[in-house]
Amino acid sequence: MVELKIDGMPAKVKDGATVLDAARLLAIDIPTLCHLKECEPETSCMLCVVKNTATGQLVPSCSAQATDGMAIDTECEEVQAARRDTLNLLLSEHVGDCEAPCTRICPAHLDIPTMLRQIERGNMEQAGWIAKRDLAIPATLGHVCPAPCEKGCRRGQLDEALKIRQSHREGSVLCFNGFDKKHHFIGLTPNLTPRGKTAVVGSGAAGLSCAWKLLQLGYAVTVFDEAPQAGGVLRGHQDLPMEVLDSEIDWLAQAGIEFRLGESISLQSMADGFGGVVFAEAEFAGTRFADAVYAEEHKLAVKAVANGKAAAIALDRSLKGEQPKNESRFDSKIGKLRDSEVTELAKNCSRDEQAGKPAQAEAARCLHCDCRKPASCKLRQYAEQYGADQREFPADERGHVQLIGHGEAVVFEPGKCIKCGLCVKITKRAGEELGVTFVGRGYNTRVAVPFSESLAAGLKRTAEDVVKVCPTGALAFRDAEENLKLET
Ligand code: SF4
Ligand code: SF4
Ligand code: SF4
Ligand code: FES
Repeated sequence: MVELKIDGMPAKVKDGATVLDAARLLAIDIPTLCHLKECEPETSCMLCVVKNTATGQLVPSCSAQATDGMAIDTECEEVQAARRDTLNLLLSEHVGDCEAPCTRICPAHLDIPTMLRQIERGNMEQAGWIAKRDLAIPATLGHVCPAPCEKGCRRGQLDEALKIRQSHREGSVLCFNGFDKKHHFIGLTPNLTPRGKTAVVGSGAAGLSCAWKLLQLGYAVTVFDEAPQAGGVLRGHQDLPMEVLDSEIDWLAQAGIEFRLGESISLQSMADGFGGVVFAEAEFAGTRFADAVYAEEHKLAVKAVANGKAAAIALDRSLKGEQPKNESRFDSKIGKLRDSEVTELAKNCSRDEQAGKPAQAEAARCLHCDCRKPASCKLRQYAEQYGADQREFPADERGHVQLIGHGEAVVFEPGKCIKCGLCVKITKRAGEELGVTFVGRGYNTRVAVPFSESLAAGLKRTAEDVVKVCPTGALAFRDAEENLKLET
């Protein structure tokens, strides 16, 4: 047996064990990208470095053998800086968008490609739920929003931008057939004891969106407004049929939001009756009040919706005693695509363009610019954890955007591959007839199925396993929806 110390804690491991094995015995988490249990170490990513304090050297923990008397530091500043540099280098040649450009531009951050994929498959109800989840009043915004997302739509480079605003307006219609408790979002728990009572003062777009987000976060919500009807300045908007606004407000009421309208608002009753308050009316800006946040209404309704969501999240954090923090996730960005790349991507989405109803045919034009593994990608998680910056080591020329696997269940995006070799190991270990392998030399090395065969031919038995172990979005299921948090 070998005895060593990791972060000051004693560990005892078998001869031949690695530092990583010893750390895991102590439940110490060391990040890895190219490590696979029970396989020879690849030692290619170098993210797992730790410091041997006796020698002062940084060593890759997945391959460094544990030795008697060793003292290891897994999280000192030097280790953190080395891991950040490693991630910055990997990201400098990473060709991938974590988020689609349209979603980035939408102030309320609607998950547009996921919604469009549901429409394309004819799942209009799911599409409506996504729009409702992210926008609170998607049909209303479908009439009044200037649709900045469409200006950033990549499809516009080829022919015409997707009709995103029309899609969420139509997709959300099914949500208005009454609130059905069988169909609710994960996180919306109308039958359970609420986490606390909250009040929202003001019922314009910011107030409605804030109330909806608080409900999704598990709070009981009461919306107050001195006006006799909810809606704020949306009421009377020249482009908005009032029955659309009314039905969305009705729906929110059926979902569980209490509306107290036409009442004068007393700060004392707020303080007495509610755990937290959001002021979504300009006249209350700057009001001093314990556990209260301010949500700015905005002349652009979609910005007001975004402000309302942000205020709900801020109140939630404050009620839980947590510090405010930047909620935005790490987002790898490709930037503008070359025309040839857009044409290439469009080949992948042409399969259903002529089929189905007009809404489906329209949605089928989407290039699906988002990543297919936004939640499980380890590269993204570690980039966030170590504060990596993709612009730290700018590449001379960006790599090509490519998606291999036209019409197949598994797709491969070479630009997102970090050449960890895990997929090659998995297919070899499983005895795949073809499997995948590295081809080419040096900088041009890439993963491919031998003899230019299809991915389906190479991954007959291991498709699920390679998608699971691939630490990035390079290998993924075409139709996987990690962002689709719906319960039906
Ligand atoms: S093609 Fe689709 S995913 Fe890409 S920007 Fe347009 S709507 Fe968004
Ligand atoms: S495609 Fe293979 S080599 Fe590339 S990142 Fe994924 S598992 Fe690693
Ligand atoms: S592979 Fe990971 S880092 Fe790259 S675009 Fe996808 S989620 Fe982002
Ligand atoms: S070098 Fe150790 S996990 Fe990659």
